Amino acid sequence: MSKGVVLITGASAGLGSEMARQFAALGYDLALCARRVDRLEALRDELPTKVAVKALDVTDDEAVFTVFREFAAEFGRVDRVIVNAGLGKGAPLGTGRPDANRATAKVNFLGALAQSEAALEIFRAQKRGHLVIISSMSALRGMRKSMTTYAATKAGVAALAEGLRSERIPGVDVSVIYPGYIRSEMNEHVKQKTPFMVDTTTGVRAMVAAIEKRKTKAYVPAWPWVPVGAAMRLLPLSVVRKMA
Ligand SMILES: NC(=O)c1ccc[n+]([C@@H]2O[C@H](COP(=O)([O-])OP(=O)(O)OC[C@H]3O[C@@H](n4cnc5c(N)ncnc54)[C@H](OP(=O)(O)O)[C@@H]3O)[C@@H](O)[C@H]2O)c1
Repeated sequence: MSKGVVLITGASAGLGSEMARQFAALGYDLALCARRVDRLEALRDELPTKVAVKALDVTDDEAVFTVFREFAAEFGRVDRVIVNAGLGKGAPLGTGRPDANRATAKVNFLGALAQSEAALEIFRAQKRGHLVIISSMSALRGMRKSMTTYAATKAGVAALAEGLRSERIPGVDVSVIYPGYIRSEMNEHVKQKTPFMVDTTTGVRAMVAAIEKRKTKAYVPAWPWVPVGAAMRLLPLSVVRKMA
């Protein structure tokens, strides 16, 4: 019997694909979306539970509502929505690449806002649900150069989640996951020996464990990111700027 239905955006690669594999192994049915639907179909064929796939660009607000509603109708419920689709583009501000920063802001913040709206529409009607926002350790402080916009979007989505948690919507839990460095397409250009980078399976295992426990906040993997997170929050910016 199905353990429930998990909807994951950005499931065509990296952390999203691996979360799909690990949640399917736990017995969940899956509603998967991303723009590269061929990848989603290949993933569906390898998974043991019921999997529905749909093409979705999260910057298309109307499509986000349509696709989420279609998934809810197809399964009769959605128990958990994982707002995972993300973009790691970016350039120092004022260096002629406003397009890259804008694209990151559109996917990571406005896209997450649309997904949260669509998820909460379903959860309010069901009177239950678990909203999971994938933020980043970079959300904890302002980051420099090509990370500036990305980190700001991730701080923005974490604040969005906290506001929703503060609303105490009956039956609705909200979790924010702050991953450290986990190998994926987003960082495949980053050199192999980056300190603390873990492989996709290990990193996602920590994410899935935190999500299953419905933690309100989780820095993952806990080692080294819990102590690094504490240091990031306390240290002066002159020190933090050397950490990323
Ligand atoms: N890997 C890390 O170390 C790390 C650390 C902190 C936070 N994160 C966060 O974790 C999440 C997943 O990242 P990842 O590392 O797995 O990156 P990834 O390997 O690059 O995967 C990103 C996913 O997002 C989807 N996506 C991008 N733009 C989209 C759009 N406009 N509409 C719909 N889907 C879109 C992509 O699918 P399509 O291209 O097929 O649409 C892909 O499935 C992101 O939110 C990222 O910021 C990752």
